[in-house]
Amino acid sequence: MRTLRVLTLLSAAVLLCSAAPGLEPLTCSEGNGPAAADKAVHHINEHHDHGYKFRLHEVQGNSVEQVDGGCNVKLQLDLRETKCHTINPKPFEDCEIRGMGERAVKANCTVLMTIKDGDADITKYECDTRQEKTNLEMVRICPDCPVLLPLNNSEGLKSVREATAEFNKNTSNQHYYILKEVGRISTGVQRILFFLPLFVNS
Ligand SMILES: *[C@@H]1O[C@H](CO)[C@@H](O)[C@H](O)[C@H]1NC(C)=O
Ligand SMILES: *[C@@H]1O[C@H](CO)[C@@H](O)[C@H](O)[C@H]1NC(C)=O
Ligand SMILES: *[C@@H]1O[C@H](CO)[C@@H](O)[C@H](O)[C@H]1NC(C)=O
Repeated sequence: MRTLRVLTLLSAAVLLCSAAPGLEPLTCSEGNGPAAADKAVHHINEHHDHGYKFRLHEVQGNSVEQVDGGCNVKLQLDLRETKCHTINPKPFEDCEIRGMGERAVKANCTVLMTIKDGDADITKYECDTRQEKTNLEMVRICPDCPVLLPLNNSEGLKSVREATAEFNKNTSNQHYYILKEVGRISTGVQRILFFLPLFVNS
């Protein structure tokens, strides 16, 4: 009786361990969509070296093709841009998704994955990113909301350079900062907003 109880406890512990997030190996079953999508979003964020991190909004397609020794999976994912820049160490799961008034951006990603012996490899992915609503649609919905400008907008970039120079004039700064990247440029009626990750020039 006692042995049986110990065994039951042990197998419960084994179950708990294998249910820990991220440890579960991917299999080729159809129900694998959410786990495969999670792996894909991690991969996409790890390889995304500019702009902002993305989070999964919806799995729009998941097709599994059985092949020798495993399967090929094709995922269609709808992602949303978060407010965490890629240099932000916060896990993307904890990042807030941008609201519509902040010119939300979405990504439609096609991900190809091969699963063999519990190992999943992303062989290819392609994302098409765009604003959730176009500038024209936004003007109708929210005339006062800022408008996103292309990142090569010359007026916008001029203002960014001026702002950086202005920022560096502050004598209480302990460092001189250089501009690493412009994440977004948006205009309001009379103002330009900057979201700049500024880096210490060391
Ligand atoms: C996403 O991309 C796929 C493949 O290019 C396309 O078939 C699908 O219609 C797109 N979905 C949306 C919502 O744009
Ligand atoms: C910005 O980039 C777009 C697309 O690459 C291009 O068509 C446009 O001419 C560029 N504008 C400026 C001001 O460089
Ligand atoms: C200069 O930097 C200090 C410390 O970061 C800040 O409190 C102050 O407002 C800045 N001054 C100007 C003119 O931006």
